[in-house]
Amino acid sequence: MKKTLILSRSDIEKCITRSEVLEKVEYVFREWGEGNIVQPAKINLDMSRSGYSSWCNAMPAYIVSLNAAGIKWIGGFGENVKSGGSYIQGVIVLTDTKTGQTLAVMDGALITNLRTGASAAVASKYLAKNDVRKITIVGAGEQGRNCLRSFDLIYKNLQVFVVDISAEHRKKFIDEMSKEVSATLVDSPDVSAAVRESDVIVLVTTAREPFVKEEWISRGALVLAMGSFQQIEDGFALSSDKIIVDSWAQAAHRGELKKLVESGKISEVDISAEVGEVLAGKKQGRNNDSERILTVLVGLGAHDICISQHIYQKAKEMNIGCYAEL
Ligand SMILES: NC(=O)c1ccc[n+]([C@@H]2O[C@H](COP(=O)([O-])OP(=O)(O)OC[C@H]3O[C@@H](n4cnc5c(N)ncnc54)[C@H](O)[C@@H]3O)[C@@H](O)[C@H]2O)c1
Repeated sequence: MKKTLILSRSDIEKCITRSEVLEKVEYVFREWGEGNIVQPAKINLDMSRSGYSSWCNAMPAYIVSLNAAGIKWIGGFGENVKSGGSYIQGVIVLTDTKTGQTLAVMDGALITNLRTGASAAVASKYLAKNDVRKITIVGAGEQGRNCLRSFDLIYKNLQVFVVDISAEHRKKFIDEMSKEVSATLVDSPDVSAAVRESDVIVLVTTAREPFVKEEWISRGALVLAMGSFQQIEDGFALSSDKIIVDSWAQAAHRGELKKLVESGKISEVDISAEVGEVLAGKKQGRNNDSERILTVLVGLGAHDICISQHIYQKAKEMNIGCYAEL
């Protein structure tokens, strides 16, 4: 049996740039829209009966054009956050499509964070109004940071309102991120004021109950709902001009729309498009600068597999990582 390449977070950092991640994320959205990806809906494992607020998702995908296959096993672990660690933890496994050999096992958290931020930027590029000047990021955590880094690559002269329930998190976010990005960052304790002013609103908190109100969303705004639970009140999904999702099969069971679907308030006929269908030119995205659009990005396993394959190939070329016989 051939050996498996093991890659740590620091190995991964050497093998891909943020611009490359943006390219891969856009490519995968389009391929998904074209029907060139096999991607069953993620399966969720609830571990809260352990006494901890922990869960894990199994996310397999096969990208036909790249002959890349594998699975991400990733979850949220609330206990880590209490001790200053990262909420998101997991691994990615790449599989040889011919032999079944495990080509690589690598850290899954960094790749998740990178591609989640890039998904927000790509969705915004295609679905936000023309002249994006003001963005609110609600959730000054890991995903919020990565969304900001990706927005900074695609937008110039940006003002970003940083919202979080924790003043300490907002301060740390602004102190750290203002050294990294060109956008002007504004400490925003008042979520309503920030959201009302914004062209794009990114919801990336760990909140378990909705707290953003429909009436705060201005005409023309794009709301990117990316948390694992519902963050915006039902009224917005029910009154927005369009609901666009990354994968309906997943969005129906996870994240922002889960409860709305379960209660029968939203069904597939209410979904205008998947993001990939918009990129593939199969369905309409935004029609004009006054539409209010809700976009639900639950996360595509194919993004992780595409990025992992790139990292695997780069690591082999650069002699990075170590090998193990399984
Ligand atoms: N869509 C995706 O592809 C994807 C990928 C990874 C993570 N996620 C999800 O994104 C969310 C954020 O993950 P993270 O890794 O950034 O977590 P994190 O712990 O690093 O950050 C979460 C932040 O949300 C803040 N917060 C919690 N409740 C809030 C509230 N009511 N109002 C304002 N702020 C509040 C916390 O103070 C914290 O700063 C989680 O739900 C996670 O599961 C989604």
